[in-house]
Amino acid sequence: MADTTVFEQHESELRGYCRVYPTVFSSARNARQFDEDGKSYIDFFAGAGVLNFGHNNPRMKKALIEFIEADGVAHSLDTYTSAKREFISAFVDTVLKPRAMDYRLQFIGPTGTNAVEASLKLARKVTGRRNVVAFSHGFHGMTLGSLACTTNNYFRNAAGVPLENVTHQAFGCDKLCMGCRLGCGRQSLDQLRAAYADSSSGLEKPAAFLVEAIQAEGGVNVASDEWLQDLQSLAREVGALLIVDDIQVGCGRTGDYFSFERAGIDPDIVNLAKGIGGYGTPLAMNLVKPEHDRHWQPGEHTGTFRGQGLSFVAGREGLRYFEDRALLDEVVAKGEFMAATLNGVVERHGESRCQRRGRGMIQALDTGAGEHAKAIVANCFEAGLLVSACGTGGRVVKLIPPLTIEQETLAEGLAIFTRVVDQVLSGGNP
Ligand SMILES: Cc1ncc(COP(=O)(O)O)c(C=O)c1O
Repeated sequence: MADTTVFEQHESELRGYCRVYPTVFSSARNARQFDEDGKSYIDFFAGAGVLNFGHNNPRMKKALIEFIEADGVAHSLDTYTSAKREFISAFVDTVLKPRAMDYRLQFIGPTGTNAVEASLKLARKVTGRRNVVAFSHGFHGMTLGSLACTTNNYFRNAAGVPLENVTHQAFGCDKLCMGCRLGCGRQSLDQLRAAYADSSSGLEKPAAFLVEAIQAEGGVNVASDEWLQDLQSLAREVGALLIVDDIQVGCGRTGDYFSFERAGIDPDIVNLAKGIGGYGTPLAMNLVKPEHDRHWQPGEHTGTFRGQGLSFVAGREGLRYFEDRALLDEVVAKGEFMAATLNGVVERHGESRCQRRGRGMIQALDTGAGEHAKAIVANCFEAGLLVSACGTGGRVVKLIPPLTIEQETLAEGLAIFTRVVDQVLSGGNP
């Protein structure tokens, strides 16, 4: 058994994931991690969506070693560096130009929550309005501004101050989630539209609508394309910005580079973090329409770690995967394989007991009960598979392997998953 004493004696009570995966990991390659006892785990968690290109991606490792050996600038605040130029040029050429997208790249402190904070600030500056509309089951980070947009009470209750200037509306799922009584987001957009049009409704027009096209932490709820399009229309009608938080499901996860591409929408701001840094090297970046970006004064939203040389180098290598559709096509094919496997589980146990949701390589099984999901996560861990729970009451098990996972490893992981789920849902002991 791995020795966890040092962590338990000295690390804060705040620690979380280590309680779900109670071992000490010591090495990792692509979709596998190994603990100090040499036990192998297939990683369907991938650093909560950070490790899209796997652990220790060899191309990135090589580029990083070369950069360090050449005394590249590892930290630069936001001064100009060669590594940053390469990253920006590659992002513009590989991602923006082929999609005819015109955005300024704004670097912020390297966490997702910082990207969201900066976008909320900018939306409020641009519009001169205070309120932001976010959506039920949304997750946008832990600092006060983004926490106000995050819905989960467990996180909100830790704030210690009122979380203000944000209101929440029902999310527009593409299908009704098991047991959901919130109603369809489409109707709530109609109600909002009517309220904004009535000067005596008492409802202020918002600075922005902040939305995930697929809510990852919220339970892998997939927005319908029509709802996203309607949301964009409403934002335009009332002069609010549309901000899409693509922090967990962007960077290729859905089989497109951006999760919202399929809906054909054109957000004012896109939040990116997690996978954009490539190697687990932290980086966050907002894509901002030029007409909004000009509202910033120099250095007005600053941050020490905006010049992450190592992240730019690894992130630049990550962008090579999107020079053609090879990886994205693989994501579509592997995603279909994952979905078909989970559909088999649903057929065996019935739609009343579980439901599959997801797109591309973010797939999930809603087990209807937190205790089922908890048992599945724990038993998968014992069997050498890392998965995580999310959604209301932690009842959804989310599968987000690295996009680069080998087909055999994916099949092996799914076989462990289905075996464990079958046993837990049939009331047996795996
Ligand atoms: C959609 C989304 N937004 C924001 C965040 C916050 O990112 P970070 O934990 O890097 O602050 C997360 C993290 O899981 C996320 O999934």
